[in-house]
Amino acid sequence: MSEEISVGQLAARSGVAVSALHFYESKGLIGSRRTEGNQRRYTRDTLRRVALIRVAQRVGIPLDTIREAFSQLPDARTPNREDWERLATRWRTDLDARIALLMRLRDNLSDCIGCGCLSMKSCPLSNPGDVAGKQGTGPVRLLGSCLPPAPPA
Ligand code: FES
Repeated sequence: MSEEISVGQLAARSGVAVSALHFYESKGLIGSRRTEGNQRRYTRDTLRRVALIRVAQRVGIPLDTIREAFSQLPDARTPNREDWERLATRWRTDLDARIALLMRLRDNLSDCIGCGCLSMKSCPLSNPGDVAGKQGTGPVRLLGSCLPPAPPA
């Protein structure tokens, strides 16, 4: 049995379209070598790498974040079980923060009447929790976002 697989085999076994695999490769998430006939060949552990990418994407982890996490592994290895547990723990904290933010925004959604005012005083979505007030005085909207800070990447 060959140690390497073609892009068609990788697509068939992972359930991911060839175009998506090419996209992952263009983003540096997976890598291949080229044969003399210029065909891509992937190591077998790429199957696991693709599966982990799909799982991370499914819970909303941006591709850039996944790539950065993978790039920090020694010898650009595919995450093993311990690597994945570390990544999942870190990402779970980020997800918890994003979920909490979305829940706050959801709870305030019906209080915004969608009039377009984006009032700093009366629109609960424009300035939830008076974030702008905590950022200081002056043109805080011109200096940056009034929305709550994004969770750490
Ligand atoms: S846009 Fe006016 S209250 Fe939200």
